[in-house]
Amino acid sequence: MPDIESLLKEKRVFKPDPEFKRQANWNKKTVDEYRKLGARSPERFWAKMAKKNLSWFTPWKKVLDWKPPFAKWFVGGKLNVSYNCVDRHLEGKNAWRRNKAAIVWEGEPGDSRVITYAELHREVCKFANVLKELGVKKGDRVCLYMPMVPELAIAMLACTRIGAAHSIVFGGFSSDALRDRINDAEAKLVVTADGGYRKGAGFPLKPAVDEALAGCPGVEKVVVVERIRDGASMVEGRDHYWHELMADASPKCKPAKLDSEHPLFILYTSGTTGKPKGILHTTGGYLTHVTTTFKAIFDIKDEDVYWCTADIGWITGHSYVIYGPLANGATTVMYEGVPTHPGPDRWWALIEKWGVNIFYTAPTAIRTFIRLGDEHPKSHDLSSLRLLGTVGEPINPEAWMWYHRVIGKKKCPIVDTWWQTETGGIMITPIPAGVPTTPGSATLPFPGIDAAIYDDDGNEVRHGDGGLLVVRKPWPGMLRGIWGDPQRYKETYWGSYDETYLAGDGAHRDKKGYFWIMGRVDDVMNISGHRIGTMEVESALVSHGDVAEAAVVGRPDEITGTAIVAFVTPTGTAEAGEELDKTLKAHVAKQIGAIARPAEIRFTDALPKTRSGKIMRRLLRDIASGKESTGDTTTLEDLSVLAKLRESEED
Ligand code: PRX
Repeated sequence: MPDIESLLKEKRVFKPDPEFKRQANWNKKTVDEYRKLGARSPERFWAKMAKKNLSWFTPWKKVLDWKPPFAKWFVGGKLNVSYNCVDRHLEGKNAWRRNKAAIVWEGEPGDSRVITYAELHREVCKFANVLKELGVKKGDRVCLYMPMVPELAIAMLACTRIGAAHSIVFGGFSSDALRDRINDAEAKLVVTADGGYRKGAGFPLKPAVDEALAGCPGVEKVVVVERIRDGASMVEGRDHYWHELMADASPKCKPAKLDSEHPLFILYTSGTTGKPKGILHTTGGYLTHVTTTFKAIFDIKDEDVYWCTADIGWITGHSYVIYGPLANGATTVMYEGVPTHPGPDRWWALIEKWGVNIFYTAPTAIRTFIRLGDEHPKSHDLSSLRLLGTVGEPINPEAWMWYHRVIGKKKCPIVDTWWQTETGGIMITPIPAGVPTTPGSATLPFPGIDAAIYDDDGNEVRHGDGGLLVVRKPWPGMLRGIWGDPQRYKETYWGSYDETYLAGDGAHRDKKGYFWIMGRVDDVMNISGHRIGTMEVESALVSHGDVAEAAVVGRPDEITGTAIVAFVTPTGTAEAGEELDKTLKAHVAKQIGAIARPAEIRFTDALPKTRSGKIMRRLLRDIASGKESTGDTTTLEDLSVLAKLRESEED
């Protein structure tokens, strides 16, 4: 793999700046001290963090109960996430935070709201009472399908206050995807909005909810935030406006004392089958993980303004827009719209306007901005920035250097953070004051995380060799299961090696032991940092009457990391061509959401298969990325000749 070769030649090293180090939250002296921290006893390390960083109503009796692959952390402990994220910032020595900005929100049209901790407390209590009023009880699931508005944060915290698990469905998903997720989680209430703003216009959300709910008999109530005021249709008795319910709600609501292992949320993510997995996270361990990592890695201080650009509909938004920052009493920025509206400098204008100090985004966004030109960041004062982060996909050294030079003005440490929906929080990352960085490497596991690289037989590979990324010991933020499917949980993550978590990524370690993440090794694609399963797109395609068979692969893309290419065999009656191309792309967007729309569809009279009937995916990947060519991509390709040449190789 030439890309691995070239990455491993990367020799630039950026040492922590002494001045940064002096003021840092975690400022141990040497990188070796970080390597040792928590290594001997991860349990002891995490217990210390749980005690120091969280407020517990009742202390735990046992740190870890590990019956592989099922873990329980802080057994017997009781706490409440909304209490930790809000109430405790209004009391005792923290009481001064009452009037501190908890959430700085900016809408795409330029409207804004600053919500203080005291105000957040009032709103969360009120909405918790609204939920109770509507019949939501501890243990129930609530589905949140919303744009990036403050009410989403309030609704999440309100769920945690009463012990209802939220299941957030990204607003870009289609009504079909929403329906399936509501039903799988058996949610009884949906919180949504009439719509949100994107690319300069209001986009409606409520119609998708109405469509989905036609197939969701379990949903009793819908709460609708008024955002774009397009006069969404409301179903009598089922649908209620947020502001009307909130007008009469009491601002007093005691936080429920919840078991450490009480379900906190379900978040659906793509796997290797057509059916998304509901990843389950629980209360005490998850909050310990995100609170601790947030404080150490982002070096948060009370004076800081922190902005993570992720949508709350993804795990990054859960852990590092909401829970990690608020549990630390930080000021977190939420932005509703696209990065390039009204102009390509919107993000930089936001950094200047709010004085953002810590900025966390995805490599795809960085690559997009490189292409848009340096003049846009250069036209704004970005001197408030003091730390930068990336997440979601491997960052190429070129993008890393641009981020360092043009955005960070060569003075901000960059933390490249590797983790997943399943891991809950950051797993491999530099500690900014302690670990020297190298462009393209996520460097070292966070203390208390035992990551390694295995070969197919479960042996650790030598430094310098590649293999599969694994985690050998349980960690507090780990997923507790796949909602309703313990068997799939076991097989997907723990089937290959005994008691060892298989991440699904390929990785290398260099001589220093630094990790270099090479991307997915399964049939999951990473499109702009978002996971889409090839099977999901395939099943969407074959659900169309004109498609006989479909195979989907990823091809490298300069901006989005990976682009979706679909090879489609039309049915006898359908005609390959532009018309069908358009129809099928729209069909996938309708079935899953716009992020899953193939960049390219190639029609073929038959998919190349081995003698044993397996689709030759490697060949398709080579064709898609232009390494192998049929010379014909306009109408029906004949892949049979290439298939014959390759057959013995792929069988
Ligand atoms: O392939 C890895 C990639 O994103 C996957 C996880 O996707 P998701 O669950 O959607 O969570 C994304 C945000 C945490 C991983 O299996 N990935 C994530 N962070 C990095 C990364 N690849 C390389 N470097 C990273 N820093």
